[in-house]
Amino acid sequence: EAAQKQGYDWFMRKEIFEQPRAVADTLLGRLNDRGELVLDEIRMSPETLRRINKIVIVACGTAFYAGLVAKYAIEHWTRIPCEVELASEFRYRDPIIDPMTLVVTISQSGETADTLMAIRHAREQGARVIAICNTNGATIPRESDAVIYTHAGPEIGVASTKGFTTQLIACYLLGLYLAQVRGMKYGDEIAALLQELERMPERMQDMLDAQQQILDLAEELKQEKSFLYLGRHVGYPMALEGALKLKEIAYLHAEGFAAGELKHGPIALVSEGLPMFIVVPPKGRDQLRDKVVSNISEVRARGARTIVLAEGCDDEARAAADVFIELPHVSTLLQPLVAILPLQLFACELATLQGHDVDQPRNLAKSVTVE
Ligand code: G6P
Repeated sequence: EAAQKQGYDWFMRKEIFEQPRAVADTLLGRLNDRGELVLDEIRMSPETLRRINKIVIVACGTAFYAGLVAKYAIEHWTRIPCEVELASEFRYRDPIIDPMTLVVTISQSGETADTLMAIRHAREQGARVIAICNTNGATIPRESDAVIYTHAGPEIGVASTKGFTTQLIACYLLGLYLAQVRGMKYGDEIAALLQELERMPERMQDMLDAQQQILDLAEELKQEKSFLYLGRHVGYPMALEGALKLKEIAYLHAEGFAAGELKHGPIALVSEGLPMFIVVPPKGRDQLRDKVVSNISEVRARGARTIVLAEGCDDEARAAADVFIELPHVSTLLQPLVAILPLQLFACELATLQGHDVDQPRNLAKSVTVE
């Protein structure tokens, strides 16, 4: 086992550091010489893909949060309405699906019972199912119409890390491919995003190389019992996933919120010294970033300790931060790939400092094969 961990104390930590490679492998061979995206494994004709009028993503846990990110990207790029649903809720509410619905299921293991039951139900209603999965030949891909495999390699740590970032890649590829097949007018944007994706492993590596700051932060906050995470747009699922990581392996109270909801409840939780992670959207054409930056000031004025993840050039975010974690400049929709890394690392380090078994957290299983 020590050999398999390659010098790391935990599989989880090793898997966090494998992400640039895992993402690069999942992207491999996706562009042809004409700069177009190739996704042959979808095995559905362009006509079929053009007729789709609704996408429903079903997944559990971390994979569900990848699905939340996918919704923002897929709707923006394809203009196809896209819902994301917890697999355990899907089948019991009589969902409206038909042969024009594309169901996308995301599962690292490909064996999660809730997700499997959801796709069986969807196929009974005539929907087509594409699985995004990391495990060759698992039950979910076998029972789907098509599968996009992520190439993360075996994930041993119960808390998913490289599974997650490679799921994001597969979702981006699917969204961009649907946009391409449907002849969306974003031709240039698609090409630019594909190029940006190709450069992402380097950006991710830079983030991981800067790990010392996160290790120090975990040391500084190791006595804390409660953490809040805020984000907006695709930063919102990052807040949820960052909090989930901390719950799973450090057994601490951690909650993620949409930053815009702050005033509708969560701000009441803010007290002196409360650590709050805040993911700030890149500086761009929209006003989202400004709103999140003012949220930082609001919580800081109430005593929160603000740990701000924002672009290096964002001086206002930096000024409002007690701790500033610098993110590279990337497109808004792709920011989760870099923003999640410090949050994963923080949870891993904090749980290590507290002496927990990071790879085998209590009460959790790597793949949950019962409903
Ligand atoms: C379990 C694992 C989580 C995972 C979830 C979904 O709860 O502990 O890490 O996100 O199942 O697993 P899947 O294999 O379907 O992605």
